[in-house]
Parts: sequence; structure tokens; C-alpha cells
Amino acid sequence: MFTEKYQKICTDLKNENKYRQLQIYKNDLHDKKIDYSSNDYLCLSKNFDNIDFLESLQNKEQNLFGATGSRLLSGNYEIFEILEKQIAIDKNTEKALIFNSGYQANFSCLNALLNGKTLGKQAIVFFDKSNHASLYQGVLSNQINLQRYIHSDVSHLEKLLNQYKENENPKFIITESIFGMDGDISNIEKLIELASKHRCFLYFDEAHATGVFGKNGYGLCSNVDFICKKYNFEKSNMLIMGTFSKGVGTSGAYVAGSETIINFLINKASGFIYSTAMSPIIAHATLYNWKKIKNMNIERMRLCEMGDFFRQTLRSNNFDTGISNSHIIPIIINDEERVLKIKNYFLQQGIIVSAIRPPTVQKSCIRIGLNIENSKEDLQDFINHLNEFVTF
Ligand SMILES: Cc1ncc(COP(=O)(O)O)c(C=O)c1O
Repeated sequence: MFTEKYQKICTDLKNENKYRQLQIYKNDLHDKKIDYSSNDYLCLSKNFDNIDFLESLQNKEQNLFGATGSRLLSGNYEIFEILEKQIAIDKNTEKALIFNSGYQANFSCLNALLNGKTLGKQAIVFFDKSNHASLYQGVLSNQINLQRYIHSDVSHLEKLLNQYKENENPKFIITESIFGMDGDISNIEKLIELASKHRCFLYFDEAHATGVFGKNGYGLCSNVDFICKKYNFEKSNMLIMGTFSKGVGTSGAYVAGSETIINFLINKASGFIYSTAMSPIIAHATLYNWKKIKNMNIERMRLCEMGDFFRQTLRSNNFDTGISNSHIIPIIINDEERVLKIKNYFLQQGIIVSAIRPPTVQKSCIRIGLNIENSKEDLQDFINHLNEFVTF
């Protein structure tokens, strides 16, 4: 009886070309292929100096692989606090807190922050429609008034905020700073201005900006004090989240903000309290890579240049790249079956791309995530293949 119901969903998804399947790209294949599907933007997951790193682990904790418990019980290690202190310095906040994954961080922090009992009233959440699933799950885990605004449309956001001008309930604006699917950059200054004017709490997800954008590569919200000052926005009303799983090349996530908010989360974010802490060796590797990021300005500039080149060339070949203006470039196809065919076609050429379909995005697309190892020749070759496919 249960199985039939679940099977029906899978069959329906298959019929709509929305069925998802796991695929293994063997390690050796991965090495030989050009991979535009990963989020390893700085290639830090693979360009790891093993000897240097292993040496740095000498005389460290015995339990390197497993934390053995949650941070509040047996699983707190010095490396976690060193990493958090470094993140707080580089994000220019009072404190930071690490999580096992970005999904867990978003879900459990928003679940705690938006709690109606804590706030005393139901929160009104102004939410970009293209926000990541973990942000959706986090806000929807509470009974809130959800006001979704058109993706990156700050005038629509302002219109919604004005509709609630007289409402005294606590208000939140939640957005990504670089959008993981559309590849566009948020208007951070306008969002801070609006948050200040309408007395909102601001929550930024910097998953795709971490390592790639902002001062020393530590995200677009790491250097916003002057904007906060300009609009008289109290920075303690802001929480910045980011992941280690993309530009940093390891896994896990952080939130950075005021001491009060971080202390509150240590007490109330259930995904932090009731989950075994990150493996210490991951925290060591994360700190190791995190420190490297600040010396990668040249690589970051190149990544931006490659993005501009790729977008311009795609556009001049009549491909739709939406509103991307970063290293993430969607090629919008708007046909589920066709994006799967394109993905398989590229795989035969030794090129890995992601086929992204609804409900993750509204219109199916091939999502390209550039990394610092891509060359103009690779990108031109990609476009040639795409043209070949289209003319078939
Ligand atoms: C914007 C955004 N936030 C959060 C996450 C979740 O991060 P993680 O993969 O570390 O769970 C992702 C992952 O794709 C993301 O794109």
C-alpha cells in the first residue's frame, strides 16, 4: 500500500522527465573530464598540499575522524573554536558558529530565529523566490507569514514591505548574496537600506560567494560596515551564512553575526544541539583552505574574466544566460527532455554539466559552474559542442 504510492510518484516524475538518479563518475574519469558541474570554484578540494597539511596535524587531537558527540556534550574541540574565531575575523562579525552542512545551518538557524514564541508575534518573512531549498525548509518549519518577492526584484520587495508598513510584527528579509542557480549578485546595498527603513532582520546566504567574492574572497557581506553606517542599519540585526562545501573545497558551513545571536543559536538551533559535531579533520582542512583563500585574488579575477567571456560568447551565439553576472552561468533551455539530452551528449564528449529541472528552477537549464582551471579554449570548445548539438 505504501510502496504503490511512492512508486506512483517515481513513475510520474519519469513521465515528466523530472526523475532524478544517482550517477557515479569514477575518480579516474573525473580527473580526465572537464567538470562544469561542481561547486569547487577555486579547486581547493583537489589542489591540496597533502604533506604540508598532514604535517600541520602533528600533535593534534587523537579523535581526528569522528567528533564522538555533539559540541555541547563530548564533541567540542579546540580546532572548531580556532576556525570560528578566524571566520569571525574575516567576516568582520563578533562571533561565528560552524555546522555540518549548509542545509543544516539554514534549516536550524531559521527554525530558531523565526520561532513565534521567541519573537512574541508571528514573523513576516520577505523571501526571494529563487532562494535555496534549505532556506525554504527553514522558514516553512515555523508558522510565518511568507511574502515571496520576484527573484532579485528589489522594487517588488519594497512594494511588499510598504504593504506591511503599519504592521508591527517582526520582519525578516532572506536572500542569497550570489544565487546558486541564476548566478546573479544581490543588490546588497539596497537590501540593507530597505532592511533599515523597514526595521527588518537580514539573513544572507553566502554559499556561492564564499571564496569567490568580497574582501579577500570572504563573501560579499564581509565588508558592509560602511553601508550599514550609511543607512543607519544596526549590524546586530544581520546573520550571514556561508558554506565550506563550495569555494572552500571541504564540507560544512558557518553562520557569522553578533555575539548574542550566536549564543542564542548555540542554545536554540536544534541542528547544532542535537547533531554530532563536524569531524575534526574536516575542520582542520577547512581552516587550512580558508586561510589560502585570501591569497587568491589573481585566481578570483581570472574567474570573473572567464565568466564574462563565457557569457558574452554564449549570448552572441543566441543562448539565453538569464541574469547571470558571476562564475555561475545557467544556459536556459526550458525543456526537461532536452536538457537531459544535452547533459548526456556532453558526457560523451568528456564534459560534465548539470541538467537542472523544475522544481529546483522554473525553466530547465544547463548550469555551468566555472572554476579557476577552466581556460578560454575549454569554454570555446564547450560552445562549439553546444552549437553542434543544437544544429542536429
Ligand atoms: C544557496 C545554498 N545554500 C545552502 C546550500 C546547502 O549547502 P550544503 O551543500 O553545504 O548543505 C546550498 C547547496 O547547494 C546552496 O546552494
